[in-house]
Amino acid sequence: MALLHLFIAFSMCFFSSIAMIDTKANPQVSSLSISTAKPDRFFSKLIHPHSVHHPYYNPNETTEDRIEHDIKRSLARIASLEAKIGSSSASNDHRASLYPTAPHSAMLANISIGHPPIPQLLVMDTGSPLLWVMCAPCSNCDRYPGQIFDPSQSSTYSPLCSSRSCHYGISSQLPFNITYADRTFISGTLALEHLVFDTSDEGRSEVFNALLGCGHNFLSSEEPGYNGILGLNNFNQTLAWQTGKKFSYCIDSITTDSNFDYSHLILGEGAYLEGYSTPFQVSDDMYYITMIGISVGEKSINIAPRTFERKPDGTGGVIIDSGSTFTFLVSEGYEVLLTEIRSLLDGSFRGVRYVEEPWLLCYLGTLSRDLVGFPVVTFHFAGGADLVLDTESLFIQRKNDAFCMAVGPINVFDLRSKPSIIGLLAQQSYNVGYDLNNKDIYFQRIDCELLSD
Ligand SMILES: *[C@@H]1O[C@H](CO)[C@@H](O)[C@H](O)[C@H]1NC(C)=O
Ligand SMILES: *[C@@H]1O[C@H](CO)[C@@H](O)[C@H](O)[C@H]1NC(C)=O
Ligand SMILES: *[C@@H]1O[C@H](CO)[C@@H](O)[C@H](O)[C@H]1NC(C)=O
Ligand SMILES: *[C@@H]1O[C@H](CO)[C@@H](O)[C@H](O)[C@H]1NC(C)=O
Repeated sequence: MALLHLFIAFSMCFFSSIAMIDTKANPQVSSLSISTAKPDRFFSKLIHPHSVHHPYYNPNETTEDRIEHDIKRSLARIASLEAKIGSSSASNDHRASLYPTAPHSAMLANISIGHPPIPQLLVMDTGSPLLWVMCAPCSNCDRYPGQIFDPSQSSTYSPLCSSRSCHYGISSQLPFNITYADRTFISGTLALEHLVFDTSDEGRSEVFNALLGCGHNFLSSEEPGYNGILGLNNFNQTLAWQTGKKFSYCIDSITTDSNFDYSHLILGEGAYLEGYSTPFQVSDDMYYITMIGISVGEKSINIAPRTFERKPDGTGGVIIDSGSTFTFLVSEGYEVLLTEIRSLLDGSFRGVRYVEEPWLLCYLGTLSRDLVGFPVVTFHFAGGADLVLDTESLFIQRKNDAFCMAVGPINVFDLRSKPSIIGLLAQQSYNVGYDLNNKDIYFQRIDCELLSD
């Protein structure tokens, strides 16, 4: 039922318009079929918000500032998820067409668009449906990185039109608009356009006629720091569907600003789907997976079996997310984990609390020095897939002399939906592969550098 509402809501602005494209009636697109060139492996580096390669990298920022930003962004993401998840039960609710991102947080892919290709930094968002970029002329598109994409300067740009042809100018072009739950809004027109990816041998691979939202009107309360958003949810118009219904991303360390960061995204047949898999379900545009337990070291901790289950009313469940840095667990599970971690640390470290985040479990100490040999925490999923969190994934150095657990209780938010959310810190050192055909997600612990060429 929830899904149905979403489709209906979405169709108003985007989806049915696509269904209307009749190649006979629209000579402009008749010769263009959605196809991809060889090699079918579309690779982009992913740039995390604290990377030296990020357009807004600020060398003056301290570790403390960075973590503070990460926490704020995670909170914004989750607050916006609530608007999204809360909307699906109320029919005819305008909020049903919201997408749940606070997109300022996440990893940026670098994909070039058009001919000549213009590099664009796009937020990778597994919770939204469309690839869009800011397009000239654009109102309110301030402070985008690099160069804005100008469709009039691209020889491969082909607008999609609702009438017999595009001869009637911009008025006949298919409109789209997307509203994110943090009130970021983009509207514009739909088009087919070529995407260009660099290959490791300094060549190029191209996706021809990818569906592109060309955004001419942007509203956001925050400076964007990106050119657009690469939606990768399981909707049949996403780039992932167009390139073979699979993609994978590998998350290297996201806490350092080191030059050597091999985080990346791969679309197409060459996506890396290895390791153990777990089935996913899509709801409210997010990927839900089934978590069946947690262990600390070798010990399986005593969490009641249905703790992480998604309830019939849509509450609960576990989302694997690309937009939150921190991980949040439903309280019944969090408390058990907390007790276990405290039993290991309370005796050796002095606890500290921060007024900003009184819910964070923190201790005086230095991660790299003091937690050597600390047992790993493993999240177990249906089907045998595991996510193993070593100290770098489970804790963050919050201040120079204090570290905190990067897992919090979802109940710090006043949410009705109470999902558990697995954030990017927990996915560090993992390749995460999405098989949209078989509805499986693969986890493999790996050095991202090994998959980078
Ligand atoms: C977004 O698209 C829908 C459907 O086409 C339309 O009804 C609505 O007015 C649009 N919203 C804005 C603000 O353009
Ligand atoms: C960093 O600090 C220096 C010295 O205070 C200042 O000149 C510079 O503008 C700052 N850079 C940024 C990006 O804020
Ligand atoms: C994005 O890719 C282009 C083309 O390969 C490159 O010139 C540019 O430096 C990249 N931008 C970033 C921020 O990595
Ligand atoms: C996408 O899915 C919808 C609903 O399931 C379907 O009606 C539509 O034909 C699909 N479009 C494409 C291009 O496959």
